[in-house]
Amino acid sequence: MSGPAGMWGGRFAGDADQVFRALNDSLPVDWRMVQHDIRGSVAWARALAGVGIYTDAELTQVVEALGAIAAEAETLGAPPVESGAEDVHTWVEQRLTDRLGDLGRRLHTGRSRNDQVATDLRLWMRDALGSLTGLVSEAAIALADQAETHAATPFPAYTHLQSAQPVTFGHWCLAYVEMLLRDRERLSDAGRRMNECPLGSAALAGTTYPVDREAIARELGFEHPTRNSLDAIASRDHVIEVLGALATLGGNLSRLAEDLSVYTSVEFGLVELDDGVTSGSSLMPQKKNPDSLELIRGMSGLLTGGLVAMLTTVKGLPMSYNKDLQFDKVILFDAFDRASAVLRLAARTMAGLRIDPARGLELAAAGHANATDLADLLVGAGVPFRVAHERVGAVVRYAIGRGSTIDALPDSVLGELLPELQTDAVRALTTDSLLAKRDVFGGTAPSQVAARARETRQRLASGAENP
Ligand code: ARG
Repeated sequence: MSGPAGMWGGRFAGDADQVFRALNDSLPVDWRMVQHDIRGSVAWARALAGVGIYTDAELTQVVEALGAIAAEAETLGAPPVESGAEDVHTWVEQRLTDRLGDLGRRLHTGRSRNDQVATDLRLWMRDALGSLTGLVSEAAIALADQAETHAATPFPAYTHLQSAQPVTFGHWCLAYVEMLLRDRERLSDAGRRMNECPLGSAALAGTTYPVDREAIARELGFEHPTRNSLDAIASRDHVIEVLGALATLGGNLSRLAEDLSVYTSVEFGLVELDDGVTSGSSLMPQKKNPDSLELIRGMSGLLTGGLVAMLTTVKGLPMSYNKDLQFDKVILFDAFDRASAVLRLAARTMAGLRIDPARGLELAAAGHANATDLADLLVGAGVPFRVAHERVGAVVRYAIGRGSTIDALPDSVLGELLPELQTDAVRALTTDSLLAKRDVFGGTAPSQVAARARETRQRLASGAENP
């Protein structure tokens, strides 16, 4: 049953052209929603029984047949393109009609594929969001594990990629955990907002059959029915929201990847990746390239592309359904697959990461990273901060001129430049002491980082995995 004859042939004398069908048929893409389509069809069959389209006995037959079709789809695995069905909705209806004849032909009473695709997609997204939030949690757990191990491991921190102040490696890890937890929340939020049932919209204006839309929504696990039939089938802002969350997530992971790829370089030498997520060079025997990081970083471009593609697709679409919307699934499924792959790789990469603590300590102190704390010492001696800043700047300039660090300047120089301070106090501005002093909630003191890492575990465990 290919071409128009099966679904809407009455109006047409000719069959659909192959070049048209090549673009119009969506079965290879929307096949992923086959189980969701069947669940929606079961709920719709029940609704139809409620308004006398099916008797109870007929309903039982339809529900059983749909169950058998669900099993058949499971066995098939790949999209049955040889069926000639235009899309997944057509395939399910075709199979039902093959089995039950007119009982199958009655299922589409008061229903449009517009309602089906809108419903299926929301059902699919609910599952997909559950899986995505789980994967975000796993990546965050890998980071939190590192944070716990390295709550006290000194690590350099930069602004403008210039040495700024020391932090611990755990603190760096937890920065990305915070981002990922917000990403997870954004996905869950989107899931909550889209959890409404479009069935009953009947293409655009609402069905003439007095079906119980509340009951349909409940049966499918939706919060309530959609409140406007035009909006229900025309809108895809829930898809945009998820793509936006994924693009944001991609950007966050991309920054993490960029950091680490800099830190893996010979010049920084701070971290090393596990062999399993790197590659060598076909020419240069010494190379160990951080490909996983580059793949994670590169993927953010594709995820951003998905968001832009969807935003562009809906812009200027007239109310209500238009075939342009069929591409929503191409974009969304692709983004889901890519985001899932990237999250798995990020978790694996983080779990296998090794730190060089000695190099961490060395770079944490490099670039006069204790200058702010020296200014604070002057503040403690009664010097206004602006003045202290100016004077420490001059000390740094002097130290740079001598190729020295501040704390290694001779006593005589320190005494002359900083007469208010004991030389010992200046020499005590070690990285460890600097870290310990940042003992504020959210700061990098090892005790704070350890406490935040522990809390993070609880937040990760308690997070709603299923939006
Ligand atoms: N395959 C279509 C889609 O994904 C289903 C809806 C078709 N509706 C229609 N009026 N042609 O958008």
